[in-house]
Amino acid sequence: MENNINQKFPLQEKLDISSPEKFIKNTDHFNSLMMRYRCAIREIRTKLEVLNDEFSIKYNRNPISSIKSRIKTPLSIYNKLQRLGYDFTEQNIEEQLNDVAGIRVICSFIDDIYIMAKLLADQDDITVLRIKDYIQNPKNNGYRSYHMIVEIPVFFAEGKTPMRAEIQIRTIAMDFWASLEHQLRYKKDLGSNEQYKMISRELYDCACTITAVDKQMQNIKNLIEEYSELTPR
Ligand code: GTP
Ligand code: MG
Repeated sequence: MENNINQKFPLQEKLDISSPEKFIKNTDHFNSLMMRYRCAIREIRTKLEVLNDEFSIKYNRNPISSIKSRIKTPLSIYNKLQRLGYDFTEQNIEEQLNDVAGIRVICSFIDDIYIMAKLLADQDDITVLRIKDYIQNPKNNGYRSYHMIVEIPVFFAEGKTPMRAEIQIRTIAMDFWASLEHQLRYKKDLGSNEQYKMISRELYDCACTITAVDKQMQNIKNLIEEYSELTPR
């Protein structure tokens, strides 16, 4: 039984809020769409928490340090569609945007990122649409993180609907760096171009230091594990 909820939302005209009736009708559609994205986040979060719990029983440690999630704000959705040249419609939101639902998974070690990514991707109901590995291939500014665009079916009374979400997986150190770099990008009043370049260079240096530290921490962990395997308990 393929009962796809999308057929129940044939709204394709621009989200029109020019009269109270249209406003109510369209905001209802919009809120219902956002609710579906929130459910997708909840499902992915549960999957991650289950994997983390299983790890803590099996190996006595937690690969996930924390999970953050967010739904893109209506204004941010509107601006992104505008930027891409699309109208603010339900169909365009679902088809053109991958990151309305966003989940950030903060891991302790680099290896944990790939373990979590694989364990998620291997689950039957998760379809991986795209991967961007900025750890193997960091961005020019030094940004590192592992990005997955996935689709997950969300089940409702009327049937199921596939929802897209962006999952960013990174270490604590990568997240620390990305938060500061994010602030820099949105500070438009940073003074001269030279100052901006100088700060960017400093940040890039930090990214290199952080990469070295991440690798060193991973090595230490590997050594500890190797050593404890050789030592009788
Ligand atoms: P967006 O249109 O920005 O979503 O980019 P994209 O569709 O090309 O996807 P990409 O995987 O490159 O980036 C997705 C998200 O990763 C962004 O929305 C940011 O949250 C994060 N990101 C990507 N590049 C950077 C960066 O250079 N610095 C920081 N701080 N975050 C980044
Ligand atoms: Mg984005």
